[in-house]
Amino acid sequence: MDLKVNEGRVMDELERLAEFSDTPAPAVTRVVFSQADMDARRFVKDECAGAGLAVHEDAIGNMFARWAGSEPELPAVGTGSHIDAIPHSGRYDGTVGVLGGLEAIRVLREAGFRPRRCIELVMFTAEEPTRFGIGCLGSRMLSGSLEAGAGERLKDGDGRSLNQVRQGAGFDGSLGAVRLPRGHYHAFVELHIEQGPLLERKQIPLGVVTAIAAPASIRIIIEGEGGHAGAVLMPARRDAFLGACEIALALEAAAKATGAIDTVATTGVCQVFPGAVNSIPSRVQLAVDVRDIDETRRDQVLNALAQACETVAATRGLKVEREVLNADSPAICDATVVESLTAACEEQGAKFDKMVSRAYHDSLFVSRIAPAAMLFIPCRAGVSHRPDEYASPEDITRGIGVLAAALRRLAG
Ligand code: HGY
Ligand code: MN
Ligand code: MN
Repeated sequence: MDLKVNEGRVMDELERLAEFSDTPAPAVTRVVFSQADMDARRFVKDECAGAGLAVHEDAIGNMFARWAGSEPELPAVGTGSHIDAIPHSGRYDGTVGVLGGLEAIRVLREAGFRPRRCIELVMFTAEEPTRFGIGCLGSRMLSGSLEAGAGERLKDGDGRSLNQVRQGAGFDGSLGAVRLPRGHYHAFVELHIEQGPLLERKQIPLGVVTAIAAPASIRIIIEGEGGHAGAVLMPARRDAFLGACEIALALEAAAKATGAIDTVATTGVCQVFPGAVNSIPSRVQLAVDVRDIDETRRDQVLNALAQACETVAATRGLKVEREVLNADSPAICDATVVESLTAACEEQGAKFDKMVSRAYHDSLFVSRIAPAAMLFIPCRAGVSHRPDEYASPEDITRGIGVLAAALRRLAG
């Protein structure tokens, strides 16, 4: 069966999807439940309906577009990813897995394939942590990794609750109904850009992911004493920002101290209050991201961070509050699904390498309830989460062709 990807069609859809953004091209900003996100969701749902798929959404906005198989009572085969995008980022992170999954389904239909199992495209809500501080919100709730009650307690930066925001966006069902049972999916495959340089460096066009790193995100609030930048002398100061700096540097040292290249730690957000040049910072909020493919090493860094917070509080006379928003286990991808992907690569005559994902993805949580694996395509210089993120039409269509071949194996 010849699987012919319609490159023009999928590249045009990626182009049109990128236009739904709160920042001008080439940057993309599409924060969950923003108008840009809602318009983008509408666009994707229309494309799925146009491809003859049955579309529905759950109470947190996960979208499901289903191609009925000849034996619809069997657990379905799932594929998909996300379309929300962090501020000032790129157009391929997540979207390649959503529109690429749609294209893979169209390719199979146009080749005359009739699946036994339904094939279901999933567009997960809020894979990015931008608005609610925790990543993979939709896939966490779908997999039961985040209970409905805990989800309802989440608030965005403006203090609006998840319920207020999602209901304002038209999603008002019970969050308790979002969870899918183990066995709902027979298998799940996510196509995604690598967000790293390895495939390009090795000149290998496809990565079959065997494990997904263990992410943790922590919110830290440091409170000192504000005051006049001219009048308060140095010995009398309790400067919250300098405490934050010490904590951030201690975090970096702890990540390097594990001796493993896979340990990474980032202080990605630093909000200084009151934020005036002639006013001593009285309050700082940090958002910290710590990851490793080894959970014990990752937790070693979390413990060192906790220790640093206590030390800085004591030595600088500050109040330091630390809240671990999530500290997840890594995922080992399912061997059978990995095998379907490697066989699909071989069938399509495509070189591949097995690899670990250092970025986290919705598949990390889908793997809690279904056999899951991922397929990576290269991105130029490994750049991602930046406007110059780029994946070539050739790599995108090759990835879609292999995804289609894998879906055919899994759903046939
Ligand atoms: O941060 C991540 O790993 C993902 O891109 N949200
Ligand atoms: Mn991302
Ligand atoms: Mn992503």
